[in-house]
Amino acid sequence: MTNLEKRKIKSLFIISFIILILYTHTSHSNENGKILSYAAGCYGCHTSDPNEPYGGGYKIKTKYGIFITPNISKDKNHGIGKWSKTDFINAVKHGISPSKKPYYPVFPYNWYSNMQDEDILDIFDYLNNMPLSKNINSSHDLKFPYKIRDMLWLWRLINKNLQKNQITNLDISKINRGEYLIKSVVHCSACHSPRTFFSIIKNHENLTGRTKSHKSLKDGAPNISIDKIKGIGSWSQSDIVFFLQTGIKPDGDFAGKDMSKIIENGTSYLNKEDLENISMYLLSSKNK
Ligand code: HEC
Ligand code: HEC
Repeated sequence: MTNLEKRKIKSLFIISFIILILYTHTSHSNENGKILSYAAGCYGCHTSDPNEPYGGGYKIKTKYGIFITPNISKDKNHGIGKWSKTDFINAVKHGISPSKKPYYPVFPYNWYSNMQDEDILDIFDYLNNMPLSKNINSSHDLKFPYKIRDMLWLWRLINKNLQKNQITNLDISKINRGEYLIKSVVHCSACHSPRTFFSIIKNHENLTGRTKSHKSLKDGAPNISIDKIKGIGSWSQSDIVFFLQTGIKPDGDFAGKDMSKIIENGTSYLNKEDLENISMYLLSSKNK
């Protein structure tokens, strides 16, 4: 073999190695982005037609009126294709738009505020590789005075002042993955925690259930604390894992509508280890 041939083979090796590293890196973050996007409900809330994933148009009925989710595909004109990484983090973690307007808290940014930036950027990268949707955003159909977006500054102020209700600065290094997923990604407390006026959560750590917010809305959610009688303290770890994969309860009953959506579009995408971590947290003394 000549020296030239040897050098060619050597550089071929180096190039394939770099390609391999790049490939495994991007596919890893894309996989993480995909799993988190399902688990966090981004897919479920921003998709009304499965042929147009992330094209928005999904309706959320609340006592304040109907919210219609926006297109978050990377289409430059109809979606968020012109957004920078910082725009995306500001929206998802802080609920502030690129034009510095507040978002309505139905978009659960209050929970995502504890997500790690790398995880959010993995979602951003994953969206980058999804097909574009040309769906045009519809405006929400809200009652007065909730339709005045600037009112949200007041809401944010009240919410912020009730600091004890917030899980601010969750120390990711001190908690396990199950607690991280529950408190920030899958946001179980968005439905399973009691709420006060203006739908402000009483205490994010409290999963003792929520009563209906309005008589025409069936949006109550049961107690999932460790209490053996009122909550799910009598479930085993594998009961919880199985439920979050399939929607089947230990007594053979199926999950109701809202919860089955969370399972179908969310927790069923998590791997067994993540689900075991979630169930361990739910059955620990932290979940009183
Ligand atoms: C419970 C439903 C729900 C979930 C879950 C949800 N969103 Fe949203 N999202 C909304 C609604 C509703 C709005 C519109 C808020 C407004 O108009 O103030 C919104 C707005 C947005 C916007 C702003 C779009 C724009 O054009 O200004 C982005 C970006 C976004 N969501 C990304 C995400 C990501 C990423 C996730 C997952 C980590 C997610 N959303 C999860 C309901 C949801
Ligand atoms: C969008 C609102 C919503 C979110 C988010 C949500 N749940 Fe639920 N969940 C419900 C509702 C409503 C029910 C009652 C319907 C039913 O029985 O399945 C329920 C039922 C359950 C039950 C069955 C309780 C019983 O006694 O039958 C469990 C367990 C549960 N949820 C766990 C979770 C966990 C864990 C999370 C977060 C990983 C979560 N849920 C997130 C709305 C939600």
